[in-house]
Amino acid sequence: MLKDIESILIPEAKIQERIKELAKQIEADYQGKTITFICILRGASVFFCDLVREINLDCRFEFMSVSSYGAGTTSSGEVRIVKDLNTPLEGKDVIIVEDIIDSGSTLHYLKNMLAQRNPASIKVCALLDKPSRRKVDFKGDYIGFEIEDKFVVGCGLDYAERYRNLKDVCVLKPEVYTK
Ligand code: IMP
Ligand code: MG
Repeated sequence: MLKDIESILIPEAKIQERIKELAKQIEADYQGKTITFICILRGASVFFCDLVREINLDCRFEFMSVSSYGAGTTSSGEVRIVKDLNTPLEGKDVIIVEDIIDSGSTLHYLKNMLAQRNPASIKVCALLDKPSRRKVDFKGDYIGFEIEDKFVVGCGLDYAERYRNLKDVCVLKPEVYTK
């Protein structure tokens, strides 16, 4: 697996340090509240587990699965709910946890859809953000790192379902995509 890596974009230590900062920010903003975290499977799973364990507030876990990409590296622009929630969001303080905001279409669609279920509040927390790739106007509320327009893997992010378990956020060698 390591032979496919061109470079490390964000090392594990920096990711963990930033996650602690995000957690502090969330804690300060949600004092006295119960947070319902919605983890977007599968990419956000690693970030989600690290983030929630740094948050010292009452919270609930929910999991959703959506698909916007096939095996390639560009978005189809189409969002499909693969696994929905099985609890209502009415009156809840919701934070959607996602791996990356790229074109913005997944979160734009998802946030609007979940907002219709009448939560008390709804925010978005993403480990990574590629603002230069936006196709729809979308802004996250808590962002780990803004990155340039590079396809990255690791810390939950995949290429064709591989590399999610890498501890660092990495850039793959170009030949990997053409294999
Ligand atoms: P969006 O709808 O274009 O914002 O895409 C969001 C989804 O695309 C993310 O949840 C990821 O699954 C995937 N994605 C976007 N950029 C990358 C990347 O650089 N590496 C891995 N997956 C990515
Ligand atoms: Mg993906």
